[in-house]
Amino acid sequence: MARKTQIRPLLIIFNLLVIFALLSLPNQSSARVTAAETQRPPAPYDLRVEYLTNPLGLDTPKPRFFWKNSHPERGQKQTAFELVVSTSPEAEKADMWNSGKINTDSSIQIVYGGKPLQSNRTYYWKVRIWDAQGKESPWSEVSRFDTGLFSVSDWKGEWIGGENLLRREFNLPAEPGRARVYISGLGYYELRLNGQKVGGHVLDPGWTTFSKRVLYVTYDVTPFLKKGKNAIGVMLGEGWYKSRALMFQLYVECEDGVLMEIHSDISWKTAAGPVLQDSIYHGETYDAQLEQPGWDLPDFNEKGWKAAQTVKAPGGVLSAQLMPAIKVVDTIVPLVMANPAPGVYVFDLGQNISGWAQLRVRGPKGTDVRLRFAELLYENGMINQENLRGARAEDHYILKGEGEEVWEPRFTYHGFRYIEVTGYPGTPKIDSVRGRVVHTAVSPVGNFSCSKQILNDIQRIILWGQKTNLHSIPTDCDQRDERMGWMGDAQVTAEEAMMNYDLAAFYTNFLRNIGDVQGEDGSITDTVPHIWGSRPADPAWGTAYPLLAWYMYQYYGDKRILEEHYYSLKKYVEFLRSKAENGLVKYSYYGDWVAIDKCPGSLVSAFYYYYDLKILTDVAQVLGVHQEAEAYLKLAAQIKEAFNREFLDPLTKNYAGGSQTSNTLPLFLGLVPDNARSGVWGNLFNDLVYKHDSHLTTGIIGTKYILDVLTMFGNSDLAYDILTKTDFPSYGYMIKNGATTLWELWQKREGPSMNSHNHPMFGSVGAWFYRALAGINLAPETQAFKKLIIKPQMVRDLTHVSGSIYTINGEVSCAWEKADRKIRVEVTIPAGSQAEIYIPVFKLRNPKLYEGGTLVWAENQLKVRLPGIEEIQFKSGNVVVMVGSGRYALELTGD
Ligand code: BGC
Repeated sequence: MARKTQIRPLLIIFNLLVIFALLSLPNQSSARVTAAETQRPPAPYDLRVEYLTNPLGLDTPKPRFFWKNSHPERGQKQTAFELVVSTSPEAEKADMWNSGKINTDSSIQIVYGGKPLQSNRTYYWKVRIWDAQGKESPWSEVSRFDTGLFSVSDWKGEWIGGENLLRREFNLPAEPGRARVYISGLGYYELRLNGQKVGGHVLDPGWTTFSKRVLYVTYDVTPFLKKGKNAIGVMLGEGWYKSRALMFQLYVECEDGVLMEIHSDISWKTAAGPVLQDSIYHGETYDAQLEQPGWDLPDFNEKGWKAAQTVKAPGGVLSAQLMPAIKVVDTIVPLVMANPAPGVYVFDLGQNISGWAQLRVRGPKGTDVRLRFAELLYENGMINQENLRGARAEDHYILKGEGEEVWEPRFTYHGFRYIEVTGYPGTPKIDSVRGRVVHTAVSPVGNFSCSKQILNDIQRIILWGQKTNLHSIPTDCDQRDERMGWMGDAQVTAEEAMMNYDLAAFYTNFLRNIGDVQGEDGSITDTVPHIWGSRPADPAWGTAYPLLAWYMYQYYGDKRILEEHYYSLKKYVEFLRSKAENGLVKYSYYGDWVAIDKCPGSLVSAFYYYYDLKILTDVAQVLGVHQEAEAYLKLAAQIKEAFNREFLDPLTKNYAGGSQTSNTLPLFLGLVPDNARSGVWGNLFNDLVYKHDSHLTTGIIGTKYILDVLTMFGNSDLAYDILTKTDFPSYGYMIKNGATTLWELWQKREGPSMNSHNHPMFGSVGAWFYRALAGINLAPETQAFKKLIIKPQMVRDLTHVSGSIYTINGEVSCAWEKADRKIRVEVTIPAGSQAEIYIPVFKLRNPKLYEGGTLVWAENQLKVRLPGIEEIQFKSGNVVVMVGSGRYALELTGD
């Protein structure tokens, strides 16, 4: 996008200015502390329930509460909280729950402990905290949550269907006081009340195994209704359900106290609408001549409409959709309009996106404008759809011939950079079509930028690839006849994704989806929901189940998710065990998928069997089932031996032929026997540096771990060399060849073979940007960024990095700058957290450390004790500063 490209240099300059401004504030910290001594802690902020802000339709009987603490003093933390939940909007009554003063430093995952919550109610809550000195904060602002429908008997509607339009009118005897809609419309729905679309959701509800679970969505529709006549209109598309079915309930509490309910049943009317056909892969055809103006308004003439019919229920339980919805999140005006053939117009958005085009057109009634979508162009400027395989990616709009018509589809989406328009009446203008960026509207939480442009470019294409592959589930790609929840792709990208976006609610939902595909035998499937691929899953794909659950615990402190899935995780690992031969799970379909140098699939599978067991051991420990933990640990030890017996060549110190991935995986998990460690590491190093001139030959599995292994072995410089390459195979090669999202393959391919140009799976290296370059790491065996190791890798010619993550406990950031004999590190640690900050001394002699301009450490001694700084030590080439919460501007100088 041109707009974004132009502002990037400005952003970098701005970032630098901010860093300099912050670094040059002398002694500000101590001044702040004196002033703050008399301060009460500020009120908690960013209140959430089940990870969401003011959620509607919670069907969790004991929801969990979250808030953040913005205490400006250093070394601060919460020592207690009080939380009240009420039925009244001021939350004063505390008639549902008054937690009393609870002594804890935790402000996340606080489980509701009040009276049983009722279905379809609004509850109000607020919280206050006490700080380290026992000072009490003001109450937070009041937040809300709405409950959904807790029990099956709350569902009184029937599944109905018919044509793709459904409507119902009703009378309200008085003004509405509170009105809620609970809706599930399969495959996709658009809800309209009195002529207006309700809510910003598109491609809703999220995709599930419909025979197991169907998501319903709750809307506050109070503002849409009025006393007297009202009309409900629902449009249905086929989506992944490939059929149409509606479940609907409206509850209205009128101001005069009258309660009113409307359900889906055969009193609804149905008719065919303007959508002639819709398919996720092939596109949508919309004939505007068939529009029925007023169909979603009261007093519509229903002539020709038939009674809706009850249809077969999808079979799954109705469960609340508790994650951000898919939305139109951005609109892009094309950069270029070309005219490569008579009547053919090709628009270039300059960015590969997921979504669709919005069309503006004037012309004669009945004109058929065709839009086709592609990631690629042929040399002659025509679009190249070959890599879409069986997906037609083609929309049609048939004009009604009434002035300017603006249209966009509802029930399809495409992955594309180019839009071809044919059949346009006259000559289109550059903004006659606009790109609409559509994906699950997760909030960005990460920021990473640095002095090396190629790394910023990689970060940019990772972000685009990642977000455009969040479509209620993590998808492999967004363009061809696939877009599946391939579990291997999901697991390798998860950590990168969690550093860049708030995925707590999203993965909670996805883990439930994974649980839904589990068979009696414990097996799970390659894709979730299961359409493509096999059952049982390739172990490197199935590992998404334990890994995502574990990441949820690590990144968000989510113990409940471990409790919820423990039984099924065990069943899954037991399934793997039933497939093991002499301690090794060897079956594999994909192995180190799309690698250049092959690593045997059996090694990859055996590695993940071991990894899954390790995770299960940790989960069992966390849940306090120690005996089980011990048993798994024992088993893991046996597997380790079997693994080395099978794959390690004791002479050459290579695993299974010595590809990069073969040697990386055992190094990553510490599987390598001590006496072979340096040999295996040496082989990996030589392969990278001498055999491949610092290029990766790994597939998606090896790529996920190799840079972390390099950093583990003190070779972040090599990781940097790899990432800054621009010849084949490298990220830079993709970018040099025009990639604006990550490719599926290292190779440049554009034909009909498998070559998606938007596949996020190689984006796993994005996690390394935060962990290594910005240095933001969770301390071992800790969760939710409560304890941090800030250890930036100041590699090669990199002169500055700025990284931040808005974690579940608040903002963590690290920005560093390296100049001649001077290293500046600016760190932010959220209240309640602690960090060890590592600053490398390099060749500086007589190193001295300043904080906010004050000399705090020199001659290996603490000079001044500043607030928040607990200790400073010299440890193997680094000055290590132990701090509590707050902002720190550190500067290391020397001779
Ligand atoms: C998908 C991948 C997936 C793979 C399994 C492909 O068709 O696009 O990303 O993981 O199949 O090998």
